[in-house]
Amino acid sequence: MEIIEAIHARHSTRAFKDTPVPVETLTDIVRDAQQTPSWGNSQSWQVAIATGATLERIKQGFADATQTGLTENADLSKVHRGDFSAFANQNMGHWVGTFHPIIESDPTTYWDSRGHLYRAPAIAYLLLDQSPNSWSIYDLGAFSETLMLAATGRGVQSLASYELVKYPDIIREAIGLPNKKFVAMGVALGYEKPEKTLNQFRTDRVPVDQILTIAD
Ligand SMILES: Cc1cc2nc3c(=O)[nH]c(=O)nc-3n(C[C@H](O)[C@H](O)[C@H](O)COP(=O)(O)O)c2cc1C
Repeated sequence: MEIIEAIHARHSTRAFKDTPVPVETLTDIVRDAQQTPSWGNSQSWQVAIATGATLERIKQGFADATQTGLTENADLSKVHRGDFSAFANQNMGHWVGTFHPIIESDPTTYWDSRGHLYRAPAIAYLLLDQSPNSWSIYDLGAFSETLMLAATGRGVQSLASYELVKYPDIIREAIGLPNKKFVAMGVALGYEKPEKTLNQFRTDRVPVDQILTIAD
C-alpha cells in the first residue's frame, strides 16, 4: 500500500475479531515504527505488546476495576475539554455530535466492545521512562502514528485509546513492568469486525485553510 493511501485508509477500529495477529507481523510493525524521527535520535520509546493470557488478565483487571469504581490514574493524566482551545473544543463538539448517534444506534455493541478493550487480540503499550520530557512525548506521538500507518500497510487495523491505559498499574503488574515504567499510551491492533455501525464510522477534518498558513 502506498503511504498516501495508508494515511487516508487508517481509521479508528472499535470492534476487533478474535483472530490473533502473528508475532512476526507485530514485530515488523514495531520495526517499521522505529523509523520515526526523534530528538537527537534519542528513540526514548519502548513497546510492550500484550496478547493471549496476559491480555486476558489485563482485560479482566480493567473490567473488575470499572465494576468496583476504581479511580482512573493514567500516567499521562486525563485532560478535560476545558483544557483545550476554543478551536479544539469546537472540533471535539463536532466529533461528539457525529459519533454519539453511532453509539446510540447500537449501544450494546459499543459498550460491550469497549468494556472488553475493544476485544483486540493485541494491545501495544507505548512506554517511556519515568518523568519523560516534552520532546520525548512529542516523539512518542510520532512513533504512535508511524506504528498505526505501518499496521495499515500490513493489513492490520488499530485504535489509539485512552481507555486502554486508564489503569496503568494493572498493565504493569500483568506484563511484569517495573513501577517506574511510564505507560503513556495503548494502541489496539487486530483485524476489524465487519461491523455495520462502529467500524464504518469515519471522521472528517476541518478545511486545510483553517489550520495552514503559508507565508512567502
Ligand atoms: C490520544 C488519543 C486518545 C484517544 N482516546 C480515545 C478513547 O478513549 N476512546 C475512543 O473511542 N477513541 C479514542 N481515540 C480515537 C479518536 O477518537 C480518533 O482518533 C479521532 O476521533 C479521529 O478519528 P480516526 O482515528 O478514525 O481518524 C483517541 C485518539 C488519540 C490520538
